[in-house]
Amino acid sequence: MNSAYATDGQYIHPSILNADFMRIGEELDRISSADSVHVDVMDNHFVPNLTFGAAMVEQIVERSPIPVDAHLMIEDADRQAPVFAEAGASSVTFHLEAAAAPIRLARELRRKNTAVGVALRPATPVEPLLDVIGEFDMLLIMTVEPGFGGQSFLETMLPKIRRARAAISESNLQVSIQVDGGVSRETIERCAEAGANVFVAGSAIYRAHDAAAEISALRDLAAAHGAHHNGH
Ligand code: DX5
Ligand code: ZN
Repeated sequence: MNSAYATDGQYIHPSILNADFMRIGEELDRISSADSVHVDVMDNHFVPNLTFGAAMVEQIVERSPIPVDAHLMIEDADRQAPVFAEAGASSVTFHLEAAAAPIRLARELRRKNTAVGVALRPATPVEPLLDVIGEFDMLLIMTVEPGFGGQSFLETMLPKIRRARAAISESNLQVSIQVDGGVSRETIERCAEAGANVFVAGSAIYRAHDAAAEISALRDLAAAHGAHHNGH
């Protein structure tokens, strides 16, 4: 299991979806104090938007001072996700809705030495996944409909985070819970309280004048509101 996503910590993952793509190297440097860079891969089929492919991810891995967390919003995850592990992503998250054999895929990705995440759209229930959650290093609970940055946080996802955290704790598993979409200074505390420990923030960080200050503000808020879930 990849220790980068053990539940004994909290992690801030800026999403480069709202970065200036013409200056991607400098945009990566702006967030070098974060834990990982979250790269949103979209194929214009699973979501109505198109972003990066594996060649771009490989270049980001080479250039980035911090690990790459690839969030695949693409169809046919079974065939495509391994390509992103080979591109050097430290973690690869695929959507449950896009995988025919999620457990087989998770095992294949782990053999490629990447941490594995499984993502759920807001309307996908978490319960069917809970019996097999130990197959994954991370559960991504989307807090907006995937596809675009800058949308508002779906408060209705908080009970889902809470139920998932309770089930993971009951089984004594080390599975991180990532939240993605509308995470900001206004919403991160509630996510941490509910049991999330990996926080993706796109517009909140890239629209800030001082990205490093925003990262540390988010980190402090998460730490102040979520530590009790991790036994610290
Ligand atoms: C949405 C993406 C998110 C997005 C987050 O489909 O998965 O990672 O970039 O952006 P904000 O933080 O602006 O909602
Ligand atoms: Zn994402």
